[in-house]
Amino acid sequence: MNLQESPTWLGSAKLQVDGKGRLRHFLSIEGLSRRLITEILDTAESFASLPEQSVKKVPLLRGKTIANLFFEASTRTRTTFELAAKRLSADVLTVNLPTSSAVKGESLLDTLRNLEAMHIDMFVVRHGQSGAAHFIASHASPHVSVVNGGDGRHAHPTQALLDMFTIRRHKPDFSALVVAIVGDVTHSRVARSQIHALRLLGVREIRVIAPRTLLLRHLGELGVRVFTNPCEGLKDVDVIMMLRLQRERMDSAMLPSGLEFFHVYGLTPEKLALAKPDALVMHPGPINRGVEMSSAVADGPQSVILQQVTHGIAIRMAVMSLCLGSHAAGRERLHE
Ligand code: CP
Repeated sequence: MNLQESPTWLGSAKLQVDGKGRLRHFLSIEGLSRRLITEILDTAESFASLPEQSVKKVPLLRGKTIANLFFEASTRTRTTFELAAKRLSADVLTVNLPTSSAVKGESLLDTLRNLEAMHIDMFVVRHGQSGAAHFIASHASPHVSVVNGGDGRHAHPTQALLDMFTIRRHKPDFSALVVAIVGDVTHSRVARSQIHALRLLGVREIRVIAPRTLLLRHLGELGVRVFTNPCEGLKDVDVIMMLRLQRERMDSAMLPSGLEFFHVYGLTPEKLALAKPDALVMHPGPINRGVEMSSAVADGPQSVILQQVTHGIAIRMAVMSLCLGSHAAGRERLHE
């Protein structure tokens, strides 16, 4: 299977929504409507106060079984999906892929079929190949939902939505916002999903700031303004979304040294001062301190980076409960 080369998954956005417009799988922001994205954000809002309650659980997914299949490393995504599932009262299985039969050569499809035989209701998938989650969704049994926890360079849709949720909590009017995405856009599934989500929510202006070697083709077609000079691109922005340098996906020709990158593109208090005084500083994590940003900025008063992590739980609860179809009853129960 070479998903990177296969164009078939690109056209499968319609896989995500059933005949009644309800979420069936959550694979990418492309193909979803503004109404559906807003419904996810609103549902997450109803879950966000749960940690303040003495019992941090709701029984929405009691009796459901969710399997986390992480073929790539993760700290935030894997643990917040697991916590989100537990807070929805689901049974959660995190398959330890480095010690699974995948290392003996078992195919993705055979792994899927064997887990399906255990009556799994949902797979959360992270995979190094673009299109892996679409591939699983298109081969899964009809009752099974698939959620993309990040596939290759293609998409990281729950990350984009937890980012939108974090922005909305501080700055609710997207139509007034200028948002800058800074860094390694070429290899970033996060940036692709962020751009689609920001466009869908009607943000005033999206800027991408990166060295020429780390840009994407066709950004202009997405209505994005491109800057190679951060001092121009950061001027008067409302939100700065930094990206991680994805060294594991680069060849050596494009690999700038950390120090070089930081010197020009790294977010320092001086560069942050070019943005609006109340600009939000975001990063999906993990941060390379001293490469993408200084600790003074990462830990400073404008940083909402740890809020992003917290909001990941509510967003993932919303996505899982909407995909498995019990959100309406659940929201009523939550507010009883
Ligand atoms: N933001 C993000 O995807 O982090 P992890 O790789 O730790 O899951």
